[in-house]
Amino acid sequence: MQAVDAVIRQSLHSEVTLINTIGGHIISGGGKRLRPALVLLSSGIFGKIQTQHHALATIVEFIHTATLLHDDVVDESQMRHGKSTANHLFGNAASVLVGDFVYSRAFQMVVKLQNMRVMEILAEATNIIAEGEVLQLLNIRNADVTEQDYLKVIHFKTAKLFEAATRLGAVINNANHADETALAQYGMRLGTAFQLIDDVLDLSGNVDQIGKNLGGDLSEGKPTLPLLIAMHRGNEQEAATIRNAIQHGGLDELPAVLAAVKATDALNYVRDLAANEAKLGVEAISHLPDSANKQALIDLAEFAVKRDF
Ligand code: IPE
Ligand code: IPE
Ligand code: MG
Ligand code: MG
Repeated sequence: MQAVDAVIRQSLHSEVTLINTIGGHIISGGGKRLRPALVLLSSGIFGKIQTQHHALATIVEFIHTATLLHDDVVDESQMRHGKSTANHLFGNAASVLVGDFVYSRAFQMVVKLQNMRVMEILAEATNIIAEGEVLQLLNIRNADVTEQDYLKVIHFKTAKLFEAATRLGAVINNANHADETALAQYGMRLGTAFQLIDDVLDLSGNVDQIGKNLGGDLSEGKPTLPLLIAMHRGNEQEAATIRNAIQHGGLDELPAVLAAVKATDALNYVRDLAANEAKLGVEAISHLPDSANKQALIDLAEFAVKRDF
C-alpha cells in the first residue's frame, strides 16, 4: 500500500497547478484506501504483486476519487475527511473539471496496462456508477421508492466499484473463471454492506469519526433504507414525519426523524442486512485455500459492518 501511495501521488501530477492543489486536497486527505487494498488482496491470492498491480490499484482509487469530487458537488456537501470539501473551497466548476481530469488520468493509465479485460471491467464499472448516481437523482424527494429501488442504487453507485476492484485482482493474476466470479461476488456483497452502513452512519455516526456532516442524506431528501424502514414500521405520526422530511429535504425535522428511527429500531434492521451481505460475501470465497490475504478479506467484511468511520 505504501508503493500504491507513491504511485497515487506521482500519477496525479499536472502542470496546471489547480489540478495539483485540488487533487492533492482530496487524495491525501484521509481516505481509507479500501478499494486499492481490495485490488492487492484479491490479486495476491493468485500470484505476485508487481508494479502493474500498484498501477491498477491506483486506477481504481482515482475512479473513486473522481466520483467523490463529483458526488460532493451533486450533494452540495461541505465536509469530507473532516475538512472542507473541494467544491466548498474551490467551487463547483473546479471540482467537476478536476474530477474529469482524475477520471481521464485513470484511463490513460489503464491503456498502458494493455489488458483488454481490465479495460472492459473498468469501463463497465465507471459507466454503472454514473448510472447509479443518476438513478439516485431521480429518486430524490420520493418517499415511495421501495427497498428494491434503493438496493439497485447502492449496487450501482457503490458496490460496482468494489466488485470491479476484487474482480480485477483476480483477472490480472489470471485466476480461473470460477475464482474470478467468487471474488466479484465477494466485492459486490462487501460494497453493499459498506454503503448500507454508510447510510446508518449518516444518521448515527460521530462527526469527528466519519469526517462528514450528519444528516447529509436527509438534508438532500435522499430516501435511504434506514428512513424507508422507519417510515414503513412507524405509527401514523412517525410515518408522516419521515415522509415529510424526505419530500421536503432540509434538517429542520432531524430530531423528530431521529426519534422515529430510534423508536422503530430501523438502524438495527439495516445493520442486520449489512451483516448478512458481509456473511454472503465471505461465503462466496470460502472455497479458496486459507491464506493471510483471504483472512484480510474476511476481516474487511467484518470491518464494513462494524466500522464507525
Ligand atoms: C465514500 O467512500 C463513498 C461511499 C461509497 C460511501 P469511502 O468511505 O470509502 O471514502 P474514503 O476513500 O475513505 O474517503
Ligand atoms: C457514495 O455517495 C457513492 C459515490 C460517490 C458514487 P454518497 O453521497 O452516498 O456518499 P458520501 O456520504 O457523500 O461519502
Ligand atoms: Mg455524497
Ligand atoms: Mg451522493
